[in-house]
Amino acid sequence: MSARLLDGKALAARVRGELADQVRGLARAPGLAVVLVGEDPASRVYVRNKARAAEAMGLVHRQIDLPADTTQARLLEVVRALGDDPAIDGILVQFPLPPHLSQAAVLDAIPVAKDVDGLTTASLGLLAQGRPGLVACTPKGCMRLLDEAGAVLEGAHAVVVGRSNIVGRPMAMLLEQANATVTVCHSRTRDLPAVCRTADILVVGVGRPELVRADWVAPGAVVIDVGINRKADGRLCGDVATDEVAEVASAVTPVPGGVGPMTIAMLLANTVESALARGA
Ligand code: GUN
Repeated sequence: MSARLLDGKALAARVRGELADQVRGLARAPGLAVVLVGEDPASRVYVRNKARAAEAMGLVHRQIDLPADTTQARLLEVVRALGDDPAIDGILVQFPLPPHLSQAAVLDAIPVAKDVDGLTTASLGLLAQGRPGLVACTPKGCMRLLDEAGAVLEGAHAVVVGRSNIVGRPMAMLLEQANATVTVCHSRTRDLPAVCRTADILVVGVGRPELVRADWVAPGAVVIDVGINRKADGRLCGDVATDEVAEVASAVTPVPGGVGPMTIAMLLANTVESALARGA
């Protein structure tokens, strides 16, 4: 292997340590509320990891578990109450929601100042306009990893595979604001491997196990793998065939231990940022 493996676990631990120091200096502990509707097993694991990280860092952590048959009106009532609660600086409603609930309506009930997920219309609008605001955790974590890798973004060609509101769209905006030239690819992109081969920076978040192969990657490219998939044998893998891509790229994030830990660290960072902005 010639590529550097970008250790998101170690970087996240460093970020969390710095945040814990910052929290100790505040007049009050920042508060994070996580709302989980239903019993989706993967969501339960994600929420548990977020809770542990928040508590370890000294945040006030409140988890609201609602049954799968919760009505839209009840969920909006819960979110609005958290919006009015002065002890709560950040609100995260875990997705996916049960199909009878509107994700858009729930997101837009979260006040922009408490949108630590960076997913509301207002937060994405601020980002699109290059104005200050809370930025979605996964793309924010990817930018920190690129910074840590020493990747030169100015003038680089960045290719983002995936156009979701959670990853691809905000990622493309952040890369463009860092003066990269950005191409966004998706399921209808013609000759995706050829486009990926033109990337200095390649960010992939589509949920397709080991989609990106060595011959998709230009020698020396930096590859950020946002995917977390489970293989038939139960092991985790990303959207990138890491072992073979590492023979070609200059740096690549592993799965697990790459982007995932950074997403949680950035959620904590956003909660602290929100608390500071709200006078903590
Ligand atoms: N489900 C999977 N990823 C996310 C995320 O980043 N935020 C929320 N709210 N739900 C998710």
